[in-house]
Amino acid sequence: MVHSLRARLLLWLLLPLAAFVLVAGGVSYDAARRTADLLQDSALLASARTIIEDVEWDNGALIATIPPAALELFESPYQDQVFYKVLSGEGRLLGGAPDLAAPSAGHALPAFYDSTYAGMPIRAVAYERLLYDSGRAERVTVIVGKTIASREAMIDGLWRPQLLRQGLMLALVLLLVPLGLTLELRPLMKLKDEVADREPSQLEPIRPDHLPSELRPIVDAINQCIARLKVHALTQRQFIADAAHQLRTPLTLLATQTQFASQCDARDPALPAALSGVRRTSQKMAELTSQLLLLAQAESMTPQRVQTRVQLAGVLSSVLEELIQAAQHRDIDLGAELDERVCIAGNAGLMASLAFNLVDNAIRYTQRGGSVTALCRRENDEVVLEVIDDGPGIPAEARAHVFERFYRVAQDTEGTGLGLAIVHQVARAHGGTVTIAPGAQRVGLVATVRLPIWPE
Ligand SMILES: Nc1ncnc2c1ncn2[C@@H]1O[C@H](COP(=O)(O)OP(=O)(O)OP(=O)(O)O)[C@@H](O)[C@H]1O
Ligand SMILES: [Mg+2]
Repeated sequence: MVHSLRARLLLWLLLPLAAFVLVAGGVSYDAARRTADLLQDSALLASARTIIEDVEWDNGALIATIPPAALELFESPYQDQVFYKVLSGEGRLLGGAPDLAAPSAGHALPAFYDSTYAGMPIRAVAYERLLYDSGRAERVTVIVGKTIASREAMIDGLWRPQLLRQGLMLALVLLLVPLGLTLELRPLMKLKDEVADREPSQLEPIRPDHLPSELRPIVDAINQCIARLKVHALTQRQFIADAAHQLRTPLTLLATQTQFASQCDARDPALPAALSGVRRTSQKMAELTSQLLLLAQAESMTPQRVQTRVQLAGVLSSVLEELIQAAQHRDIDLGAELDERVCIAGNAGLMASLAFNLVDNAIRYTQRGGSVTALCRRENDEVVLEVIDDGPGIPAEARAHVFERFYRVAQDTEGTGLGLAIVHQVARAHGGTVTIAPGAQRVGLVATVRLPIWPE
């Protein structure tokens, strides 16, 4: 398998061209050979006729004098040797070379044939005529043969220039294709340099002017990729800015609290309160940090990367176990309807944080004595996970924003505003969706997560 574009294009061009040159060469050789044969044969015949013309009766006997014109016909720079023989009807030799071979019997005359004379290949013609003399007729046969040097030279002369022209064409293709490709690939090399020399922060699209139209799709694809990278980089920057901003508030608070505590006397009654303030703030910061880490983990995940089988009922029951105390503390009836059989492809840790945030919200924002139900079931090719509460719900205008980072509706409760953003990102990373809607009779909230089922 050849991988160079140059080599492949050359192969595509050269193979058929070479085949063409081969066939055309064969055809033109054949044509040249026929032409040379035709000319040679007609010269031989003309010479034989001239000789026979000069055979005469002399006193009742035939005599042959060879006219010089008969042999001058063959004058050429190739110095062909010419042989002849004249035979009378009874086979008497009237002149010429006696051992010049006659055509094999059965040939109609004039007969052209290939033979050898004195070890040399020759072409010969046998021609005959009846000569009359006072009521008598005698058959006279003339055989003229010649060596084939001029014939070969003529074939060469007719055929060579054609071969040369076609060879030249092949050589031109061989030369021009790589040259043309080198020139035409220049824009691609320029494009390569432009992409290679980019700073990581340089996320402008590549300008497609001066590029051949075949390269446009590649540039378009690269530009789309750059656009996605740009959005990604922007989100990351925003994320870091948001996180820093959110962490600064508890850090400032912590600084004030520790400063106050450090000014207190060891027996000061305000000291324990100040220290528990410090503890609460650092706990809040730890929660915020772990939520931020979870969100970053979920955001960086792509749906194709999660491949482990996760049994949803197992994940949900351990989350409910974790939160049962919080529910009891708030006098909330925590229930579950879990289908043990449903499984998804995913990351168990992230699924647990999704479930935890939904159930935690339901417990946290529902009034004392309320009820919260978590359920999972199969619906066609999907797994549905629902957390239903009968709390205050979320007003319609706020519902549009709850999946944004740090967005909070109730300001009077503790929280980082990251929970539903995590839920949204985890669902997305698992190829699923999350929606929230008011419950039956517009009471409470139903959070619904739909995920693709584990393929059996
Ligand atoms: N089940 C619910 N009932 C009523 N309001 C809710 C419910 N779930 C979420 N909310 C509202 O949506 C807001 C966003 O919730 P989210 O879980 O994202 O953040 P949080 O709970 O404030 O903080 P975190 O979960 O990170 O500690 C909350 O501030 C709350 O006002
Ligand atoms: Mg929450």
